[in-house]
Order: sequence, then C-alpha cells, then structure tokens
Amino acid sequence: MCGINGVVGLNNISEVLFEGIRNLEYRGYDSCGVALMNKKHLIVRKNIGGVEEIFHRENILSKKSRVGIAHTRWATHGTVTQENTHPFTSCDGAFAVVHNGILSNYRFLRDGLIGEGHQFDSDTDTEVIPHLLEKHYKECNDVELALVKTLNMLEGTFALAIISIYHPDQIFCARRESPLMLGIGDELKFVGSDFNAFIDYTKNAIIIGDGEYAILSRDSYVVKSYLTQKEVTKSITKIEWDNEAAKKGGYPHYMLKEIYEQPQTITTALELDSASLDELAGMIQKSENVYLVGVGTTFYVSKFSKYLFSSLAGQFIPAISSDEFTSLATVDKKTLVLTVSQSGETFDTISALKHAKSKGAKTAAIVNVMGSSISRLVDKVILQGSGPEICVISTKAAFTQMVIMMLLALRLGLKRKVLVRKEFDESLAALRELPGIIQSILNERSGFIHRVAHNYAKIKNWLYLGRGIYYPVALESALKMKEVAYVHAEGMSGGFLKHGTLAMVDDEVNTIVFTPPCGDKELYEATLRSVEEIRARSGFVFGIHFNEKGRNKGLFNEELILPNVSPLVAPLIQLVIGQLFAYFTATSLKRNIDKPRFLAKSVTVG
Ligand code: M6R
Repeated sequence: MCGINGVVGLNNISEVLFEGIRNLEYRGYDSCGVALMNKKHLIVRKNIGGVEEIFHRENILSKKSRVGIAHTRWATHGTVTQENTHPFTSCDGAFAVVHNGILSNYRFLRDGLIGEGHQFDSDTDTEVIPHLLEKHYKECNDVELALVKTLNMLEGTFALAIISIYHPDQIFCARRESPLMLGIGDELKFVGSDFNAFIDYTKNAIIIGDGEYAILSRDSYVVKSYLTQKEVTKSITKIEWDNEAAKKGGYPHYMLKEIYEQPQTITTALELDSASLDELAGMIQKSENVYLVGVGTTFYVSKFSKYLFSSLAGQFIPAISSDEFTSLATVDKKTLVLTVSQSGETFDTISALKHAKSKGAKTAAIVNVMGSSISRLVDKVILQGSGPEICVISTKAAFTQMVIMMLLALRLGLKRKVLVRKEFDESLAALRELPGIIQSILNERSGFIHRVAHNYAKIKNWLYLGRGIYYPVALESALKMKEVAYVHAEGMSGGFLKHGTLAMVDDEVNTIVFTPPCGDKELYEATLRSVEEIRARSGFVFGIHFNEKGRNKGLFNEELILPNVSPLVAPLIQLVIGQLFAYFTATSLKRNIDKPRFLAKSVTVG
C-alpha cells in the first residue's frame, strides 16, 4: 500500500531516486522520505506531504549519493506524522529501512527490544526492523546474516529495502506477500514496488518471490531464500509496457487520459489470444462450481459479468466480493475461482485465491499488471494488456475487464450451445464497433456532461439507478463518484428503490438513471417505472438513455440522449458517461483527481 524505491549506481542517484518514487506516488501519498548513503554516513530526510513537496522542502536533490532508498506512505500503523514516516533507522544510525506491508507480531518484538534498551521514535510496526538488524549485527558482524535472522523473526507481510553503513555500495531487500521487484539496468540497479519505479531506465525486471531476499550493487545482484540462504536462479521478465504510456501526455489528469484510452484498450482486448480465452471458457464449463471474485471496482466487474454469463452463456455464476469470500464461498476440488484485478496485488483477492487453492480449487484471473502476485498465483491467467493505469480510480482497466468477460461469456455460450455461430459472430462484430462508438461519445458528449456535472456539483447526495446489467453499471458509476468527488452516491437496482430508499427522495437527493435501449422492452419499461416513482415525489432525475424518437418527452429533468447501439454494448456506453460525470463533478469541486484523499492504488493490506 506504499511505494518503495531504491537505486544504486556509479554516479549521483538522487535525481533518479526522485523520479522513481514520484512514479510510485499513486501507491500512497500521505508522507515521503529518503535515506541516502553519503560516504559511510546515512542522510535521512522525511516529512508529511507529497514526493515533490518533500524533495523540494528538504532540499534532497542537492545531496550527493550513489546509493539510496525512498518511500511514499499510505498509513496503516500510526497516524500521518513526520515520526511515523519511513525510513526508520537503528539506534546507532547504521541501518535505514523502508517497508510496505504489516507486521503482525511487532508489539511483541518491540517490547522485547525496548527491554534490551532500544529506543523507539514512532508508532509504526516497521521500526522494529532496523533495531532487530542492529541487534543481530552486533551478534554476528555480518549484515546478510543479520538480515536473514531478522526476516525469520517477522510475522505478517513485508516488502523491504535496506541500506547499511557497513556495506555502503549495496541495497538489501526482501519480500513476503507484498510486491517487490528488481530493475536490472547496465549502469544502475533498482528495487521497486512495481515497474513504474524504473521503467524510464530499464525494462528488465526480476520479480522477487515470497521468502526471498536480494542484494544489489551497481554491477551485480543475487537473490536467495531467507529460509535456506541458498541462491535462487531468477529469470528476467521483459516489461512490455511503453514508458510514455505512463505519462500524462497533455491531459490535465491521468483519470481523463485513461478514460480516453479506452477505445485503444478495447481494441487490444479484442486481439487477445482466442485459444487462451477458449481454454478459460473450457475450465468454466468443466467446473461444477464457479465464482467470480474481485473487490471494489473489480467486484462490480464481477457483478457485471454475472449478468453476461447468465444472458450469453445460460450459466448462473455468482459474484463474491473477495473480502467476504472465505466467509461465504463453498469451495472444493471441482470449484473454479475466477478473479479480476487491475494491480494483481490486492490483499483481499490474494487471500480469496489462497483459500481456494488450499481447498484444491482451480484458479484463474484477469489481470492488468504482468508479473504481479495474482498473475503468478493462479492456474490460468489472462493478461489484459491495458497499459499502466496511474490514476487511483480505475477506469480503463475495469472497463476492459468487462469487455474480456463479454468475450469469455460468448465463448462459453458457444461451447454450451446457448449461442449459435451466427449469434457469436454478430456479437463479436458489435464489440468491434465499440472503440469507434466510445471515441465519438468522448469527442461529442464530454462538453455536455461537463456542463451538467458543473451545474449540479453542489448536490451532496445522488441515487444511481439501473436494472438488469445496468445495475452494476450504476454501482460502479456511483463508486467513481464517491472516490473521486467525495460525493455520496448510492448505486441501486431500480426495483429495490420502492422497498425503502424512495423515502429519501427530496430536493437534496438527485437521481441518475441508466436506461436500457427501448428494444429491451421489459427492462426499459421497468426502468421508466422507477423514474416515474421518483418524479411523482418531485424528485430530480438525470436520465441517460438511447435515442427513443421523442418517447418520454419531459420525463427527465435533465437528459443525455445517446446514439442507438447494439444492446450488447449499450451498458458499456452508459458506463463511460458515469465515469465522465464523476470526473467532471470532481474537477468542479477541485478535488485531487488522480490521488483522492485516504485512498491508494493497490490495497496490499487486509
Ligand atoms: O487492483 P485491483 O483491481 O485488485 O483493486 C481492487 C480495488 O481496490 C479497486 O478496484 C478500487 O476499488 C479502485 N479504487 C476503484 O477505482
């Protein structure tokens, strides 16, 4: 949930360290700190605030160093204060440590260390690590051995980067269940929470596995097991992402850029290896019991997919939020757990997968980040190839996952003989039209959505309504509104409204309705009944609907009329409107778009 970066080189690395940690800021941005090796002394600077602010305020770029580590924090243990900011040092100032993860036995370790005379300056779990290193080093005079002893005492999860005055040209790092990788350049070696730490310098990565530690120097690296201390042979993973893709490219925010990238990411998804999708469809077909699993937005992707599998493949597949999976799912050897994750590092989803694996279930995943924990954990992975998603709010990744789920449901439909080849081909043709339709919606409707969002930006409560597959569209659009604009938005199925929530409707609660094309008569009419119920109570309704040739004139207080499209892709078009509406509301409210308060991109803690 935090960002870690470390760099070792021949010349001054302060600037490189700055760029790397700034690229990881989306992982957490409460506070930031660095430790630089200056000859045989550590320079530590840390404070509350963003990376640029801290580097500037603490004048870090003026410090010369060939080895350094940096951290950008999303607080778990201890409030956001300078004392609780990483790095942490040992009493003797010989070790500096940055950490991502949670140590579950830190209280026990801390009490023991205090009893031995160590002095603690923070409320964090992390601070036990430099003190343990100091203690063990004093016993054995060997940094590597002190590290191994320390790691074996830690319970919980960690990704660590450490520097020590005893080896001023090296970085030590280790991992258990928190992401960490090495970047292997010719002149520079890196450690980072993800590729964004070093993608500007090298595309050669080594993924550190659970139970492994590594020692990096300018011209070499070694990876070992901290259980056996034996060397582990690692292969280089080539990062296929383009570093330019991780830049803003003229857009005011990553969120807008990533929304505008959707036509391209859909095109990429449509080119995914069909044999691989077929294999996954086959796994679904063979399993007695299948679950769709994700959390936050990816839970809504799963809920969306549930409708697709029912309608296109005639198979009901439940969706479970991964944080509730172990309490709810019944899993055995005949079960398949199909997870969805942008980062591939989400703690709740990894926990669900581990639970499923422990019961002998088969596992699969649709993931954006190659080399991520989930992509390596599952039996079958589909890498969606949507490129880096930097904004904390997921748009293009989730959207593309929905498209991939459509492809999968269509393939399953064919296998189960629910669809005939002609229907399958027609659906594929409709999907191929989708990038162009979305491009023109973005080009032609953004201005209107901007105006509506701006006019109603002061509304504090929104009801987001949809029926059928438009219900998860409403849920996901409402989540976008909450996380980027900090505006209360409640996603609900239209039918559910009259069972309680209708009582809330007044001039302080506005409604947005995602209406299906009128060709889907039953769903369309049911959706309009919900609108009537609200309008009869003088509630305000913003209707998003398809060209209905003047039907329902005057029904909505505000309306956006979309071009007629195939019913298969219609809910996806509506979702783009939901994304833009949240974005423009947030810009009107002057929110921190790409880094909303209290959130982080990958939630690697439970
Ligand atoms: O990386 P993942 O897709 O596994 O992340 C799951 C959720 O944490 C994530 O979707 C979260 O809800 C986002 N902030 C949504 O925009």
